[in-house]
Amino acid sequence: MMRNFIRLLRSYLEYLELLGVDAVPAYPEIKSFLDLDPLVPETLADLEKEVRRCRRCGLHRTRTQAVTGEGPCPSKIMLVGEAPGREEDLEGRPFVGAAGKLLEKMLAAIRLKRSEVYITNVVKCRPPGNRTPEREELEACRPYLARQIRLVKPKAILALGAVAVKSLLLKEEPLSRLRGRVHELEGILVVPTYHPAYLLRNPSAKRAAWEDLKLFQSLIQELA
Ligand code: URA
Repeated sequence: MMRNFIRLLRSYLEYLELLGVDAVPAYPEIKSFLDLDPLVPETLADLEKEVRRCRRCGLHRTRTQAVTGEGPCPSKIMLVGEAPGREEDLEGRPFVGAAGKLLEKMLAAIRLKRSEVYITNVVKCRPPGNRTPEREELEACRPYLARQIRLVKPKAILALGAVAVKSLLLKEEPLSRLRGRVHELEGILVVPTYHPAYLLRNPSAKRAAWEDLKLFQSLIQELA
């Protein structure tokens, strides 16, 4: 129970930190207690277990299973999508449906293999009928993403679609205004682009997405 409490407290503080909140009174005693406690070095496996049992929002009632994420950990490169769709919900893996096929082609175009990057979604359970996740669902799930980022330690994130971009950058501007440039989140470079499902419906946006991909490629080449 104590372990869980410390884990929750730590993830909450990290979540605030990721949001840019730096005004929480961080007494040195509390900080050192949280940082140094040898009992609670969280692993990705711990986090995934917690996500699979999660009931923080109503989506647990309609999911087949939670889709946590996959890929190497740590990984310099992370991809963040919106939420699992039907195939992902059934298979338990992110981006395995039609959008996933296009995503693999997008990665191949910048000489990346799916197996080389960590892929996840902001929301870990499928919204019924693939509707856009609601605010409470996003808020319930966002701390998991913050914890994944801390564990995976990416240097660059490709944010796929408006939901992922908004959740990461907490900006209200439309994706069309946020894409095309590099943003920064606590030292991590974030490149927003269109979601592959959007590109399947709107092929004319592929040209802009290609510009974003080339930008992302140039960033990760510098990281190497
Ligand atoms: N769309 C997403 O945003 N994520 C997936 O995993 C699949 C489709």
